[in-house]
Amino acid sequence: KRLAIFASGNGSNAEKLMHYFAENPYAEVVLVVSNKSDAGVLKHAENHTVETCVFENADFVSGEEVLANLQQRDIDYIVLAGFLRKIPDTLIAAYARRIINIHPALLPKFGGKGMYGMHVHTAVKEAGETKTGITIHLVDEEFDNGEHLAQYTCPVNAEDTPATIATKVQSLEHQYFGPTIEKYITC
Ligand code: GRF
Repeated sequence: KRLAIFASGNGSNAEKLMHYFAENPYAEVVLVVSNKSDAGVLKHAENHTVETCVFENADFVSGEEVLANLQQRDIDYIVLAGFLRKIPDTLIAAYARRIINIHPALLPKFGGKGMYGMHVHTAVKEAGETKTGITIHLVDEEFDNGEHLAQYTCPVNAEDTPATIATKVQSLEHQYFGPTIEKYITC
């Protein structure tokens, strides 16, 4: 299977996925798509000799040009790894049940518009949660709403800060995103 990763930021998850699938018999990462020309993820793609495409934010409104680029490259699955634009309906229709996102909390808690990055971990801390974690899920028309493929948890202790929560959550992401994608696309 041919995977495209969409990412807007550092791309630490994207990097782990390129590494995870580098020698994988079932899937390979063939494209990294970003909406930011200076996103760190583009450098990771270069290091892994994975092709990149950068689109303007406006291209994610209709999504037709993005879709044409994916189809030209026979992309089977789209993986969102810190991609901060809403996925256009054209892509959701063309890739129904073939778009996978990772969210840094236990959805349906701490999801929805504006809930990304440190905002999530700050909200978890302020709510006094005793655990948090990650949700890997399919993407539909609504933010953070699609079917869950997997959740993994970590404890939140009294001494944790949003920053230490972020570190714990990120290590779950790096550990479980690749295997969860692999399991979904091979069964
Ligand atoms: C991750 O926390 C992921 O859950 C969220 O965006 C973040 C991306 O981080 N959707 P990175 O760019 O992969 O380091």
